[in-house]
Amino acid sequence: MITQKWRGKDYLAETDFTREEIETIIDVAFELKRQRAMGQSHAHLLPGKTLFLIFYNQSLRTRNSFEAGMTQLGGHGHFLDPGKIYTPAMEGYEVAYSTERVSDVARTLSRMGDAIAIRCYGDPVQWRYGAAHDMLKEFAKWADIPVLNMEDDIYHPFQGLADILTVKDKFGTFKGVKFLMSWAYSPSVDKPRAVPQSAILYATMMGCDVTLAHPAGMELDPVILKQCGDYAKDSGGAFRVENNFEKALQGQHVVYPKAWCPVNIYKPPIGQDDKKKSQEIFDRNKSWICDAKHLAMADKKAIYMHCLPCDRGYEVSNDVIDGPQSVVFDQAENRLHGQKAVMNLVMR
Ligand code: CP
Repeated sequence: MITQKWRGKDYLAETDFTREEIETIIDVAFELKRQRAMGQSHAHLLPGKTLFLIFYNQSLRTRNSFEAGMTQLGGHGHFLDPGKIYTPAMEGYEVAYSTERVSDVARTLSRMGDAIAIRCYGDPVQWRYGAAHDMLKEFAKWADIPVLNMEDDIYHPFQGLADILTVKDKFGTFKGVKFLMSWAYSPSVDKPRAVPQSAILYATMMGCDVTLAHPAGMELDPVILKQCGDYAKDSGGAFRVENNFEKALQGQHVVYPKAWCPVNIYKPPIGQDDKKKSQEIFDRNKSWICDAKHLAMADKKAIYMHCLPCDRGYEVSNDVIDGPQSVVFDQAENRLHGQKAVMNLVMR
């Protein structure tokens, strides 16, 4: 049900929302998607509103779906490069006349616009796991306007939203859908773990039969895994972890393999700050590629998903990602519809 309670809400993590609330967002997203397909304008929904977009990391999909989404809603997406403003920094990480305390940035932007969206993970927070999410929470504490998470070091809630919109699009339901989130090899170990963590959170919350597959050493955050188990119990879905790629693929309806970094890349106490060891784990597992042989082990009608960008020839073969089972561009498009739904609900 859509009520005034949405106005002003932050969207930092899917775990801050109930299943009923996520279902509302899904309904609104599909309504906006249907209307856009029918040529209806949404420019009356957020006229004159400004969304500030702060990107500490690179982006194609997230930046453009938010900017295009704001234009379609009648407002404006305003891109801010942290290196060209005074870089927003937490207390203890400030540099004179180079950074500006997060609390000051949040209060300043709150006087000028209608929401703040932030992407931050990895190098900008020195690979201190959770530090980027803490920074987003600090923004939210001080801002009088909604703060939206465009990917931090724990969650990528708008990617996860697009992922479940795509599952609903393709299967019409979540119940009984066998959803495989799997690690895949990449030559680059610097890959955050927010995408798989958000994907399994949403999928278990919505009642899918979820398998998380990865080689030993690639475990995700135990807090997230516990939450997935709890969601699966509540939703009537299932959640299991499998260390064998070929076993994990059997009978799956959704095959979603992508690389993420091992925990030891992070700074202590979470990790060991050891990039070399991380690379060794990656290099032992080059066979974790979604090629035609592997995709054939899943259900005959399985869909192949990836958040993009993908490492072709490593995470996935060209014939799979460009083949008939691939839905990656529908998935990318759903970023737009999901984000428009949330912006429409919280920025009114
Ligand atoms: N999937 C995703 O977040 O893509 P970008 O890094 O291009 O924004």
